[in-house]
Amino acid sequence: MRDREVATRIISGKPSTEDVSLDSNLRPKHLIDFIGQDKVKGNLEIAIVAAQKRGEALDHVLLYGPPGLGKTTLAYIIAVEMGVNIKVSSGPAIERPGDLAAILTNLQRGDILFIDEIHRLSRVVEEILYPAMEDFAIDIVLGKGPGARSLRLKLPRFTLIGATTRYALMSSPLRDRFGATYRLDFYDELAIETILRRSSSILSIEVKEAGFSQIACRARGTPRVANRLLRRVRDYAQVMANGVVTESVAIEALSKLEIDHLGLDEIDHKVLHTIIEKFDGGPVGLDTIAASINEEADTIMDVYEPYLLQLGFLDRTPRGRVATRLACEHLGVAYKKGQSSQANLW
Ligand SMILES: Nc1ncnc2c1ncn2[C@@H]1O[C@H](COP(=O)(O)OP(=O)(O)OP(=O)(O)O)[C@@H](O)[C@H]1O
Ligand SMILES: [Mg+2]
Repeated sequence: MRDREVATRIISGKPSTEDVSLDSNLRPKHLIDFIGQDKVKGNLEIAIVAAQKRGEALDHVLLYGPPGLGKTTLAYIIAVEMGVNIKVSSGPAIERPGDLAAILTNLQRGDILFIDEIHRLSRVVEEILYPAMEDFAIDIVLGKGPGARSLRLKLPRFTLIGATTRYALMSSPLRDRFGATYRLDFYDELAIETILRRSSSILSIEVKEAGFSQIACRARGTPRVANRLLRRVRDYAQVMANGVVTESVAIEALSKLEIDHLGLDEIDHKVLHTIIEKFDGGPVGLDTIAASINEEADTIMDVYEPYLLQLGFLDRTPRGRVATRLACEHLGVAYKKGQSSQANLW
């Protein structure tokens, strides 16, 4: 059980407690140091320069994508590049409309308000946000019952940056109020290697070129996972190999973590085996998969599924998840002909 917990943490894009200080050390501070995501970076750069030229606050920005890909990092970078203050909060932390009103009325002109996990804002809180985003004003209700009056309070022009791993859970009125929406994608191996090179130099770890590629291919296209693997490999190298990460040291260290050469761990394997063996390749609902392997459906959806979809190992159909031929090939099990094409009819 403990082993499983460790493995789960290693490949999860979600931050662990160990990651928190590491994240801030390794977090690039300027756009130029932010590796990969070229389209997003290019668009952001234009938006930032244009806003600065006009002397205005940047349009509201929504960042979405799987955990650990750089949403929070980008929010901080935008603040640095715009030369403004950033106030940080999150969907679950803002419980009541009054909490949000207090945050908004304390903003200065041009400030950035970063709301992480914005899909978790309650409806009543969201409703305060609509006029704040659109008209830079909030409506405060004074008194109760028939005598209640509404008072409109002007706010300074500010930029809201929202981040979410669950774009689909956001209401459309909220989505529509963002001037720019950017989706962060998994990084390719080359970008991950560049991130690893940067991190190893900040952490003073000596890594040989082939060592980088061994780590990169197992990092699930996720910078947070790459940095975490690097730290594990460094520990191993310090104890077993004078601190130098060569290809063979990386392979040995990584094989002890029980993740395969594509970065899949025991849970990924269980998800795929369950679909293939228990449910004839699918389609099968996510909740059913979660119950059969005793995992949270949310964890599977946030951490495991996006990467399996990206690899083409999983298909999402209206009737449920389907394991593909590629998945069967990777696991070395027989592919039942037609299991995917049948599902694609839906
Ligand atoms: N493009 C990048 N270049 C270099 N390092 C990066 C990049 N993106 C992310 N990182 C590293 O990965 C870590 C995790 O990124 P970040 O916290 O921004 O992810 P996130 O998308 O906000 O995740 P979550 O959904 O869990 O909030 C950062 O601390 C940083 O060290
Ligand atoms: Mg974040």
